[in-house]
Amino acid sequence: MTNVTMVYFSPNGTTRRTLQYLAAGISRDCRQLDLTPFAGRWGKYYFGPQELVLLGLPVYRGLLPAISEEYFRCLQAEQTPAILVATYGNRAYGNALLELKEKAERCGFSCLAAVAAVGEHAVSREFAGGRPDAADREILFYFGRRILDKYLQQGRGTLPAVPGNRPYEQGDLSRTPLITDGNCNNCGTCAAGCPVAAINPADCRETDTRRCIGCMRCVHNCRRQARFLEKSHYDRIVAMLRKTAAIRREPELFL
Ligand SMILES: Cc1cc2nc3c(=O)[nH]c(=O)nc-3n(C[C@H](O)[C@H](O)[C@H](O)COP(=O)(O)O)c2cc1C
Repeated sequence: MTNVTMVYFSPNGTTRRTLQYLAAGISRDCRQLDLTPFAGRWGKYYFGPQELVLLGLPVYRGLLPAISEEYFRCLQAEQTPAILVATYGNRAYGNALLELKEKAERCGFSCLAAVAAVGEHAVSREFAGGRPDAADREILFYFGRRILDKYLQQGRGTLPAVPGNRPYEQGDLSRTPLITDGNCNNCGTCAAGCPVAAINPADCRETDTRRCIGCMRCVHNCRRQARFLEKSHYDRIVAMLRKTAAIRREPELFL
């Protein structure tokens, strides 16, 4: 088996876990390239035709996060077979797989398979809490085996169409109103972990809203629960998700 590498942007870890479960069905020895840290996206990484790469990103508003531009700028492939993975919070993945396929191909990848998988919704655990769970893990392992079969039979792949429409709808581009309250002791955890360096390390209450992508990592990482989404914004999202994300969706494979 050739080199297998998983490349991911995963502020809250569900995309990383999804890739690990999928990769388990493909190879025992999978390398990891974590493009979540701000400092991780300055290098350039090359992949040859004999390698196999899993490319994972979360879905934001039915698309890839804007950070995907930087993610792909780091990568250069030479007809490298790729497995595309979009992780979404049980509502909808919209055009994310199509966008992922187009961006991967532009980078030189030759797409072999695509997976839409469900991960705990970053805004509220009420939606897909704990996912990917044990059942997802089994399904993803099985998907991995099926992808491996295709790879061994065909080498580099031709992926049929994935769901999605052009032009991509941009959706709601309003900024995510994140708030820091008096519980903050300026410990710096949020700033150190912010994947886009949007939080001032000298004063954690200062967030550059033009940089912030609303990933919620700072909210989850805060040990004093001093960071949260502005309440009316949070309530609006949760009300929308109760209508659209209540019924369990299962991982999908496109091969
Ligand atoms: C700004 C933002 C937008 C999101 N948009 C969607 C969406 O359109 N559909 C959906 O099902 N989940 C959506 N989610 C949920 C994420 O896709 C989900 O939580 C994903 O598992 C996060 O990946 P990570 O754990 O690797 O960061 C959104 C989350 C955030 C923070």
